[in-house]
Amino acid sequence: MKILVINGPNLNMLGIREPDIYGRTTYADLCALIKAHAEKLGVEVELYQSNHEGDLVDKIQEAYGRIDGIVINPGAYTHTSVAILDALKAVAIPSVEVHISEVDKREEFRQISYVRLACFATITGHGLDGYLEAMDMLRERYAG
Ligand code: DQA
Repeated sequence: MKILVINGPNLNMLGIREPDIYGRTTYADLCALIKAHAEKLGVEVELYQSNHEGDLVDKIQEAYGRIDGIVINPGAYTHTSVAILDALKAVAIPSVEVHISEVDKREEFRQISYVRLACFATITGHGLDGYLEAMDMLRERYAG
């Protein structure tokens, strides 16, 4: 099984950006946690981060026929991007939406998620553990 973990804009600034909301763990640390968890689950993992909407769409398209599950934190594009939603629908790869913070309890504009419509589960407010929980869900679903 191969899982793709996609992070959108500003998630490369983890550890620096608003630590009271997102914590002090860096993006590099997150990547290390995800890789270690993949090893534990016995799955392959690919990590991708971009600040650009079109690049995120390209990456989702490239996953077609190659990737068995997607973990996606689209950052701010969660709340605006029909293009990312459409890309996820186009490839129809089982996907889980992750947010480090509890988006549903923050500003009103964060309570809209387009990508959620193409994901079979959403995890919010579990911090970085949310990524690992999403990988568990994909692994379980893949095993049937
Ligand atoms: C986020 C929440 C979004 O609203 C925000 O724009 C982010 C991070 C989260 O992980 O909690 O960049 O997706």
